[in-house]
Amino acid sequence: MIIEPVIQGVVARSAHPYGCEQALLRQIQYVQQAEPIKNGPKRVLIIGGSSGFGLASRIALTFGGAQADTISVSFERGPSEKGVGSAGYFNDYFFKQHAEKAGRIAVNIHGDAFSSAIKNEVVEAIETYFEGEVDLIIYSVASGLRPNPDTGEVWRSAIKPMFEPITGATIDLEHDAWINTRLEPATEEEAHHTQKVMGGEDWEAWVDTLINSESIAQGCQTLAFSYIGPEITHPIYLDGTLGRAKVDLHQTSHSLNLKLANFDGGAFACVCKALVTKASVFIPGLTPYLLALYKVMKAQGVHEGCIEQMQRLYANKLYNQAKVEVDGERLIRIDDLELAKPVQDEVALLLKEMNQDNFKQLGDYQGYKQEFLNLNGFGFDAIDYHADVDLAPFIETKEA
Ligand code: NAI
Repeated sequence: MIIEPVIQGVVARSAHPYGCEQALLRQIQYVQQAEPIKNGPKRVLIIGGSSGFGLASRIALTFGGAQADTISVSFERGPSEKGVGSAGYFNDYFFKQHAEKAGRIAVNIHGDAFSSAIKNEVVEAIETYFEGEVDLIIYSVASGLRPNPDTGEVWRSAIKPMFEPITGATIDLEHDAWINTRLEPATEEEAHHTQKVMGGEDWEAWVDTLINSESIAQGCQTLAFSYIGPEITHPIYLDGTLGRAKVDLHQTSHSLNLKLANFDGGAFACVCKALVTKASVFIPGLTPYLLALYKVMKAQGVHEGCIEQMQRLYANKLYNQAKVEVDGERLIRIDDLELAKPVQDEVALLLKEMNQDNFKQLGDYQGYKQEFLNLNGFGFDAIDYHADVDLAPFIETKEA
């Protein structure tokens, strides 16, 4: 079949398998020529490893110097009568293929990371493929909902401000249109639900499961990703429901750090740069900031994508030195280039001017859209998008 980009609002409804492979290969090529990760982990579990920061971590740790074997858990779907399959599914498929070609173990587990069934499946996979232990656990899930493991009731996140309404704009990628929005403050219940979905509780449940199953190696570290951003984004992020969830995540990193100290290991929340991912395009009001940020960071020669961020994290902050570099709140910061004053001064000026008529010129809309298309395997010159794609090879069993 011919696979074309289908975008609904900010959601991609199609993905091109061979375009996803291109995106993967570009990232592999990047880490192969970047500063290598020395003294890195050998057996890595990534929860949320099929796209964004999780996938970039997987690529960096396997191909960027550490030569790690990986188990990844993700919520993705393969081709079926319902659709061609999700980009994350093809990312997993090709990651495994290329990692195995390089002599590495790569196990993909598809299912709900919040469930005990998948946690148990991972414990078994660690037994089978990692001789029973992991050296690094990366928690990189971005989800809009989480079933309560005890009751089956579903918690849904609500990305909203707290206390005061805010106005901002979202960009409809389907119509390339700027949409002014007003967001009412979250209720206490909505804030609580968002924390349940995006806070640290499930991260802690994973580490507890792995401690109880004796799957933690000596020196094991765990890592989850966070965002803080400049003041201009605080109303929708740090001071909103997402920020509340992230503060919970930061606190969880401290309790997990104590638990892993028993294994001479540690736990860290890592604050990343704002980037276009499947998850971030959903955050209302953040897009104009992203358009300005991309424009300025590219012009100043300091722009990074997920892969550059992750390679730098493992090569410069986590592994190549005796001590992990953290800030006063024990957070690893790789948002340093984003928050640099020359960047933020320019971004603030651009945002003052940006509106529905000029966002494509003032901001890096072209780059933003291109990155979104690339995430789903579109927009690559090397791919003939008029060619017929046979999806049969991608239809697989649960564990692929
Ligand atoms: P993403 O959407 O690219 O990846 C999310 C991953 O979670 C995918 O592998 C997906 O399959 C998996 N997932 C979702 N629901 C799942 C479930 N129920 N069971 C198993 N896997 C599930 O997201 P992104 O942006 O890489 O986000 C990862 C983390 O990084 C999040 O904590 C996010 O808040 C954080 N972050 C993101 C930033 C950004 O600008 N994109 C900036 C700073 C932090």
